[in-house]
This record gives sequence, C-alpha cells and structure tokens, in this order.
Amino acid sequence: IYICIYSFNPRLPPGGDNDRSSSRCVCVSLQGLVLGVFEKEGEEGSLHLTEAAAGFDQTLSGKLSELLKISGPAIKKGKSRIFYGLHEDFPCVAVVGLGKNSVGVCGAENWDTSKENIRQAVSAGCRSLQDLEVNHVEVDGCGDAQSAAEGAVLGLFQYDQLKSKKKTKVTAQLHGSADPGWEKGVLYAEGQNLARMLMEAPANHITPTAFANTIEEKLAPHAERVTVNKRSQAWIEEQQMGAFVSVSKGSEEPPVFLELHYNGSPDSKQAPLVLVGKGITFDSGGISLKPSSSMDAMRADMGGAATVCASIVTAAALKLPVNIIGLAPLCENMPSGKATKPGDVVTAKNGKTIQVDNTDAEGRLILADALCYGHVFNPRAIVNVATLTGAMDVALGSAATGVFTNSDWLWEQLHKASVVTGDRVWRMPLFQHYTRQVTDSQLADLNNIGKYSRSGGACTAAAFLREFVTAHHWAHLDIAGVMSNKDEIPYLRKGMSGRPTRTLVEFAAGLLFHT
Ligand code: BES
Ligand code: ZN
Ligand code: ZN
Repeated sequence: IYICIYSFNPRLPPGGDNDRSSSRCVCVSLQGLVLGVFEKEGEEGSLHLTEAAAGFDQTLSGKLSELLKISGPAIKKGKSRIFYGLHEDFPCVAVVGLGKNSVGVCGAENWDTSKENIRQAVSAGCRSLQDLEVNHVEVDGCGDAQSAAEGAVLGLFQYDQLKSKKKTKVTAQLHGSADPGWEKGVLYAEGQNLARMLMEAPANHITPTAFANTIEEKLAPHAERVTVNKRSQAWIEEQQMGAFVSVSKGSEEPPVFLELHYNGSPDSKQAPLVLVGKGITFDSGGISLKPSSSMDAMRADMGGAATVCASIVTAAALKLPVNIIGLAPLCENMPSGKATKPGDVVTAKNGKTIQVDNTDAEGRLILADALCYGHVFNPRAIVNVATLTGAMDVALGSAATGVFTNSDWLWEQLHKASVVTGDRVWRMPLFQHYTRQVTDSQLADLNNIGKYSRSGGACTAAAFLREFVTAHHWAHLDIAGVMSNKDEIPYLRKGMSGRPTRTLVEFAAGLLFHT
C-alpha cells in the first residue's frame, strides 16, 4: 500500500518540494491501472466495459466511457490506449482491447481464444505502462484472473541482467477483490520466466554446474517435499551411461546428471510422473560442427531441461499433490581432441550399441541414457522434452510442440492441458517406417541418424528414442520449433520462449484426477 502525503516525483531532481526524505511516504512509486474492454457483439466499433472497468468508470461518473468515445476508433483486440490524469491513485490508466466476449475454446485453433485474448491484451497494457516507467500496476482480472496474471507476468519479463541499462521493474497486482486464479497465474508465468531466463542466459554463465545450482536454489524453499541430487561424472560413468558420456567428452565443462524428486502426493508410494529434459547447455555440433551463423541460439539447447525443471519448481510452489521426478542430463556438445568422432560406437545404459554417424544428433544420445534410468522409478508416465531437431521447426514452426507418444491417454492429457494454456501441442507419428531408418547400422545396433534419408527428421529422432522406452505411457515432446519467439506470441517478447512450461504444469496438475 502506498500512502503518500507529499509526493516525490522520481523523474524530477530531488530537493525543494520534491524531497523524498521530507515526504511522509511509506514508499513512493508510480502506479498504473490496466482495464479491459470488449467489442460489442454485432455493433461494429462499439465497446463494452468489463466489470472492473465499469466500476472504475462509475467512480469517475462516466468519465472513462466518455473519453473512450472521443479518443478515436474502438480499441482493437490486443491493443492498448493510455489515459492520463483520470484518477489520483492511478496517474496512468491503460485500457486494453479484449476482442469479443462470446469466444471460448476454438476447435480449429486448438486453444481457448478468450484466455489468449486476455493474455495478449493485458501484456500489451502492462508493457505500455512499463515504457512510461510505471513501477506498479493493478490489473483487471477481465473475468479470468489466471490468464490476466499470465499476460502481465509473461509480458513484463525482460532478460536484461547483463545490461547496464535495464527496463523499469514493474510489480503487478490484481485490481479489486482477491481471486486465487491470480496467484496461480503468477506462479505459472514465473515458472515459464524461469525457463526463459535459463534458456536466454549465455552458455558461459549457465554451464551444467551453474544450471544445477540455480535449480537447487529455486527448490530450496520447498526442501520439505523436494530432494535434489546433482550426480557427478563418476556417478554417470558408474551408471554406464555411455551415450551421455560420449557427448560430454569433447568439453572442458564437467557433465551433471540432475535428479529432482518432488513428493507432493499424500501417498508417498504413488507412482511418479517422470519428466526428462535435454540439457545441452551449448550445442556446437561437436566434430560434425554446425555452421557459425545463428550458432549462438544453441545456448538454449537445454530448453528441455529448463522447462522440465521450471515446471517442477512451479509444481512445488503450487504444492500439487502428485509425485514428480525430474531428470536432466546436462553437458556441452563441443569439438576437441577428446571428442567423439563420426563412426564411433558407444554403448547406452541398456546395453544397446549406437554408431554415432553425426555428432550433432547428440540430444537423442543423452536422452537415451536418461530414459533408461527413468524406468528405474516404475513411473506412471514418462514425458521427455527436447530441442531435438531442426526438422521439427521446419514441420510446425513455432505454432505447437510436436508430441510423439505410444499412449492415447497421455496424448489426451497433454492436449487438454495445452488448450487451457494456449501453449499448444500437436500429435506426430511413431511409425515403424522411421524405426527402420535408425536400426540399420553398419557397425552397431542403432545409428544415431536416419540411414536412408533426412526427410522426416523429427520422426526419425523420435523412433530412435523409442528404442530406449518400455513404459506404456511415454511421450516425447520436440520443442525445437517453439524454442524462441520473434513476434509470433504477442505476450512473449523476442527471445527464448520457455515453452511449454505452463503446459507441463497444467498437465501435472490434471493428473490429480487420475490417481
Ligand atoms: N539442437 C539441435 C536441434 C535444433 C535445431 C534445435 C534448431 C533448435 C533449433 C540438434 O541437436 C541437432 O543439431 N539436430 C540435427 C540432427 C541431424 C544431424 C540428424 C538437426 O536437426 O539438424
Ligand atoms: Zn546437435
Ligand atoms: Zn542439440
């Protein structure tokens, strides 16, 4: 609460009337308000206010609706317009366009349009206030406080830790009476922002060790229900994870196998959900070196590990009553005199031999061992998440995560969750057709790339992973296409996306009803 008797204006030089020390303030900050308006059904160009906006309008005796009428054309969906000096508590009010009120789940788009519209509009409003250096915003719940919170917290995120000049830090709070949806939305979005932070951070900052330490710190407040194991290189070798070792060998950075146990279920024996994330903190391609253009993006090749670990941090913060185990094989993929060479044969944890014909197809190698290990916990389901193939990006782009699964039940759970979050998934095939590509190796049981053709590369990679799975409910999520955002998702700024963290959390939360 900001009680201000004399107000200090941070933009004017201090002293005289503008003196923070003589102001009897608990804290002084610029406050903003974000309010929503819907397009009126059937009436082109006219608007109707949300409940919160109408309440605000009433306290101003209709001033807001009057200004909306004279300030130009009706505010379009996802756009915002700022009004100054309307209210003494809120010097800046951003009114945002929510589109039509009557929309809901859209079968063609596979998402809830109302929720997406709210996320989009609220983020636009919050950002325009951030540009005005407003420090604190109150946000209209717009009838769905969770989506509003997600729009605010995702929209305001900016990775500028490493810049001297930073964007204004803005805190957001729900306008009006409390709603548990708001807190839930904040936690969902903060989870995604954690994944964004890890993915965006440069590879010399987020090494395998630094990644594991960051997650350990984030889980420290939940120590009662969480254990963190940072397994060393010696442990990895003992486990006979020959495929994982073969990828990490070329780097000076030691690999880490991060193992998280979240025990949220009152039934400690409840079979866990096992989440496995690809954790390549930098993918140079190894001896099969990548071209240098855009290679910097491969600092986000740990997006699988980032989204999986962030979703476990979020599950712990939400105290979800489920048991989840998170596994993240973390290492760099580098060329060196010690690196694995094309044609080398390595042995995975389950004894299968793999001819490594392309060292740039490293994700499937580290996942192979992690998937074998995941079965040790007798899971109810295994879901792995990986920035696995450029081919996935070619196939679906950033519209949806590709899901390859042997389980209709698991597909339905993931799909249902993604409709709610708007962070979509799309089912991809696991045909024997692709298995043939990886099981015909000259020297070994398997080959790490498709033998006959590069076509269908995302499917070939999935077929390879399947060779390490015996569980009946397994899904592989290829997130290469959704790894980064240019301007496709309006409520995420340009940069690494942290997708599909919210979908993983929603999916885990949905498992409550299937115990
Ligand atoms: N990390 C890459 C895949 C990737 C590409 C992720 C672009 C995000 C954006 C992966 O390790 C890789 O290099 N895959 C190869 C496999 C190929 C050698 C069979 C690819 O997709 O080209
Ligand atoms: Zn690679
Ligand atoms: Zn990779």
